[in-house]
Amino acid sequence: MENKKRKISIIGSTGSIGTQALEVIEKLQDKFEIIALAGGHNKELLQKQAEKFKPKYTCLGEDGLEKICSDKENDIILVACSGKIGLRPTLTAIRNGIDIALANKETLVMAGDIVMAEAKKYGVKIIPVDSEHCAIHQCIKDIKQVDKLIITASGGPFLHKSVEDMKNATVEQALAHPRWNMGKKITVDSATLMNKGLEIIEAHHLFGFDYDKIDVVVHPQSIVHSAIEYVDGSIIAQIGLPSMHIPIQYAITYPERFEGIKSKSFSFADIAKLDFEKPDYEKFPTVKLAYEMGKLGGTATVCMNAANEEAVFAFLDGKIKLYDIYKITKKMCDEHKVIQNSTIDEIFTVDKEVRENTKELIKLQFAVK
Ligand SMILES: NC(=O)c1ccc[n+]([C@@H]2O[C@H](COP(=O)([O-])OP(=O)(O)OC[C@H]3O[C@@H](n4cnc5c(N)ncnc54)[C@H](OP(=O)(O)O)[C@@H]3O)[C@@H](O)[C@H]2O)c1
Repeated sequence: MENKKRKISIIGSTGSIGTQALEVIEKLQDKFEIIALAGGHNKELLQKQAEKFKPKYTCLGEDGLEKICSDKENDIILVACSGKIGLRPTLTAIRNGIDIALANKETLVMAGDIVMAEAKKYGVKIIPVDSEHCAIHQCIKDIKQVDKLIITASGGPFLHKSVEDMKNATVEQALAHPRWNMGKKITVDSATLMNKGLEIIEAHHLFGFDYDKIDVVVHPQSIVHSAIEYVDGSIIAQIGLPSMHIPIQYAITYPERFEGIKSKSFSFADIAKLDFEKPDYEKFPTVKLAYEMGKLGGTATVCMNAANEEAVFAFLDGKIKLYDIYKITKKMCDEHKVIQNSTIDEIFTVDKEVRENTKELIKLQFAVK
């Protein structure tokens, strides 16, 4: 990293990724200067963060995000808010020539073609934070020689439970992820495996691979964070104990590495055994749906993302059952008329319409009595 401090803003500083990013920055105080911190609703935590890290400014809610992302003083912006909120600020930052550390996968699921084209046009780096994509990013030396991406999935809390168990799952059970402590939306997505579906689409856009060159393998220990296969059959994987501090730090200090928050030492002997298995697409049909929507392209993934997000919120509110999330999302995708080469405005229109229709569908056909 350059000798001068890297100037950074964090969108979603009060969330799971945001707070861990601040822990990394605290350890690397001499490397960073914080320009802005933005949260959604947690005013108290944002205030505490502001007192400690003394950013130039803070913002609560969506209104100030455009200002933060057009402040050219930033060298890099960590986009760590959840859901569709990430898209507009990411595009603004790109158009202002600011590099992006991207945790918010929905940005690429909604508008990957536009975001990646704009990043190329403005010469901006999009550095992945998601542990799987960070792993792939670390493994790739010469992308032209890579044949296949292999994304690992922990399988979530229902991996070895029956479909019946999943159908009757409570919110508490769905939020009890065995490996990762994350925000509620992504944790529910991990329980249905939709998170893997979103990650396949994210990988397609980030690395430019066709969907049939992106495989998913279930790996419950979450030690192998993902891998790539070169044309000659060599496979390179990135491994380590499950901790988001590492990919967050890698993304915001890239291309340099520092000790920072080092997780406890990794020992091959202690790990002893690594398991891998094929994903069960009958039990977790979300992954198949994501492949299908990804291949359709255009607004198909916008529709899938919006319907899934609304269904997840409804599940968290106790309005529907866990298994209904897939049924609702699939129904919305089946009914959607895909628009190709859409503009950002069209994407937001589709997103809004799908959300309204999903809420209506939930009210009429799925609400738990
Ligand atoms: N957590 C992980 O380990 C992990 C791993 C890989 C990828 N990701 C991705 O990273 C993103 C964030 O995940 P997370 O787990 O950190 O989620 P989270 O804990 O729910 O945090 C979400 C953040 O977004 C903020 N936010 C919500 N509404 C907002 C609004 N209207 N305007 C501005 N900010 C708003 C929240 O603020 P308040 O809390 O103040 O409302 C919070 O800071 C997601 O896209 C997720 O898929 C997360």
